[in-house]
Amino acid sequence: MIGRLNHVAIATKDIKKAAAVYRDTLGGKVSGEVAQPDHGVTTVFVDLGNTKIELLEPLGENSPIAKFLEKNPNGGMHHVCYEVDDIYAARDQMKKMGATITGTGEPRIGAHGKPVIFLHPKDFVGTLVELEQA
Ligand code: CO
Repeated sequence: MIGRLNHVAIATKDIKKAAAVYRDTLGGKVSGEVAQPDHGVTTVFVDLGNTKIELLEPLGENSPIAKFLEKNPNGGMHHVCYEVDDIYAARDQMKKMGATITGTGEPRIGAHGKPVIFLHPKDFVGTLVELEQA
């Protein structure tokens, strides 16, 4: 069911510093910062050609990555995102397989303007998984 790796998301308390690491130290192709108040994050993308790194910094009061950064004060890998052809078919398949979908369990529009669901890490080898309709 899953297709290509769309992105790996890395959470950080300091997105400017993180962007500098990817741009200056690693020589990556780094985008500007985009505030996404609806999602409680500021994002920067690193274009790797075959996939992307998504740097995330908390934005506002109830950021979904705040708790993660409490546990991981130096930042760290937050989730991986795999592409699927049909988000509703993917949701039904995940339910059938007994996986836990976070939040309401319904697809919502993600940070890239496409429908996504998030799957709980307990069912996926300790890793939060985002499925995105490509
Ligand atoms: Co993501």
